[in-house]
Amino acid sequence: MQMDVLLGLQWGDEGKGKIVDFLSPRYDMIARFQGGPNAGHTLEFDGKKFILHTIPSGIHHPEKVNLIGNGVVIDPVIFMEEVKELEKSGLNLSSNLYISRKAHLILPTHRVLDAASEAAKGKSRIGSTLKGIGPTYMDKTGRNGLRVGDLVSSGLDNKYEKLKEKHLALLRQYDYDYMDELDKYEKQWHESIETIRRFSLVDSEYMVNSFLDNNKKVLAEGAQGTLLDIDFGSYPYVTSSNTVCAGACTGLGVAPNKIAKVYGIFKAYTTRVGSGPFPSEQENVTGEMLRKKGHEFGATTGRPRRCGWLDLVALKYACMLNGVTSLLMTKADVLTGFNKIKVCTAYKNSGSPASQFPYEINEDIKPSYAELPGWQKDPGQLREFNDLPANLKDYTSYIEKELNIPIDIISVGPDRSETILRF
Ligand code: GDP
Ligand code: IMO
Ligand code: MG
Repeated sequence: MQMDVLLGLQWGDEGKGKIVDFLSPRYDMIARFQGGPNAGHTLEFDGKKFILHTIPSGIHHPEKVNLIGNGVVIDPVIFMEEVKELEKSGLNLSSNLYISRKAHLILPTHRVLDAASEAAKGKSRIGSTLKGIGPTYMDKTGRNGLRVGDLVSSGLDNKYEKLKEKHLALLRQYDYDYMDELDKYEKQWHESIETIRRFSLVDSEYMVNSFLDNNKKVLAEGAQGTLLDIDFGSYPYVTSSNTVCAGACTGLGVAPNKIAKVYGIFKAYTTRVGSGPFPSEQENVTGEMLRKKGHEFGATTGRPRRCGWLDLVALKYACMLNGVTSLLMTKADVLTGFNKIKVCTAYKNSGSPASQFPYEINEDIKPSYAELPGWQKDPGQLREFNDLPANLKDYTSYIEKELNIPIDIISVGPDRSETILRF
């Protein structure tokens, strides 16, 4: 059996959590492959709402194995809080949640370094979620990191102190007062590692491959989105991991020839949280309307998300990088009520061909737009594609034609049930 991958095609928050939860009944294992608690994946069903940061979005299906892969970075404190919250809702996680021994740990000093580095950048700050993601991946590639497996081997205290010393030396370069924050956070960290130790810590590359060899179905869940990828995103305003499909191979230990479907998920418009270029951004009443109707506030930080029109230049680039075979469009309901809907089709003055996502996006770039007629009837109650307003169906066909990939799911509301499946 091969593995399917679901990942974001924009700047994150495309609705990955909702759709992974929706698709989970079709799989035996749901496996997160990169990122960490910078992610906030929202699930809604039966009038309840959950936001997951580290734990895969299949967790509400107790008969499915949920795996945190080696490519993920884990903050034990945030993980412990997630576990508590889910267990309060009645889930028994010890039966179906597994963690890779090779996943790296976010230390209290990683968080402090993230904050100190962002503060020092001033106006050019990345807009990081301040969860310590960048410093933790730096230590991973710098070969200094602490891994989940270290929590159950001797010498943990020694390794921890050595890495902390290195971080404190780095922190001396910054004019950043961290002592109170660090003391409090360290205490919580040492308590919370007990929660991780309670779970099955596994050689997850063997586990995933053995599932595939035994004809079991695996869905790999991405975090962030393609335009935040460390190599191909709007660098340096990106995250520190490979969010593209290749990240599912390295983040789980699955060979490229074992990947079958690649689900690329996108919002019917575009949002971005944090700093960095956003050519189709609407800093006007349209942007305000999208933010208000779409409740566009970050699931992890609560920050207002920047909003704009759908960007086909960026989407085509993302489809190419990921080898997307199936598109999933969310938040189609949010576009209800606009008379005209714009779609960015080219970037003028970018120094690259207008249809390409350029090396650098600056203010000289002028997006060109196609204009499509909007629809007035909210599709939230509808469950069949054929029942959708004609102009929404046309919007869907237009995007499919431009990207040459079918849109197989249309999401029309945050709830699990508000989903139109076309396969
Ligand atoms: P993720 O990070 O990709 O999992 O996405 P987030 O959870 O950060 O953000 C998506 C937000 O949109 C969440 O609040 C979801 O509940 C909500 N959402 C998902 N799909 C839809 C949809 O089709 N319509 C509406 N109105 N909201 C949606
Ligand atoms: P999900 O999985 C949206 C953004 C931050 C910042 C940049 C770097 O919920 O889609 P980091 O904390 O990684 O150093 O921040 O990336 N960012 C996200 N934006 N959704 C996310 O995750 C994000 N994770 C990071 O806002 O601009
Ligand atoms: Mg999110």
